[in-house]
Amino acid sequence: MTLLQIENLDKSYRITDRRVPILQNLNLALSAGERLALVGPSGCGKSSLLQIVAGLDRADGGRVRLGEVELGALDARALALLRRRELGIVFQFFNLFSSLTLLDNVLLPGRLERAPARPLRARAEALLERVGLAAKRGARTGELSGGEMQRAALCRALLLKPKLLLADEPTGNLDSENRRRVYQLLRDLSREEGCAVLLATHDAEAAAWTDRGLAMRDGRVAPA
Ligand SMILES: Nc1ncnc2c1ncn2[C@@H]1O[C@H](COP(=O)(O)OP(=O)(O)O)[C@@H](O)[C@H]1O
Ligand SMILES: [Mg+2]
Repeated sequence: MTLLQIENLDKSYRITDRRVPILQNLNLALSAGERLALVGPSGCGKSSLLQIVAGLDRADGGRVRLGEVELGALDARALALLRRRELGIVFQFFNLFSSLTLLDNVLLPGRLERAPARPLRARAEALLERVGLAAKRGARTGELSGGEMQRAALCRALLLKPKLLLADEPTGNLDSENRRRVYQLLRDLSREEGCAVLLATHDAEAAAWTDRGLAMRDGRVAPA
């Protein structure tokens, strides 16, 4: 079953008085539960693509369909709800709140969703346990390593059982041991949770941890 279908996607940015094309007639399909690595150099448009799939930016042309929903047809509020309910997002710089404990960071999307407190907390604690962070659930980000913060960010992204996990350079800030650990967790947790992964990175090693690798260049994707 196709989960994500991207057809003829175009995106350009206006830079001073010129429009610079970034994504050009890009086509991509991802099946439910599939893990895909998009590998390309810095500046090739990976983040631009993920922002559009996340509903944080709009394409200039083409279509993005998530399940039965066409993103271009949704307004900002509907996109925000879709993002919270159907997607999990992991970023390079974790984007955790330094004023909150690890557990509260993980719980945040569920609280915004007004999910029942007790099962939500059990779910958050089970995820933290799964990634080896149960003992650090009361810690604040300042007390944690990059690898620990990224594992917590992964828990937060998975809290509400997304169908699709978007990961934008999730290991860009980690040493090689922690990179591997995050790739492995992305793979194993996506299997356990049955969610698909769209992983964008400049790190060619990432493809080895996914089902399929695609090379991104000149605004398009091609088999790696
Ligand atoms: N909001 C923006 N306005 C103008 N140019 C942008 C904007 N966002 C990204 N770009 C440019 O688009 C290109 C692709 O950027 P990006 O999608 O961030 O690539 P990647 O994530 O692969 O490094 C880069 O040249 C970048 O400078
Ligand atoms: Mg990027």
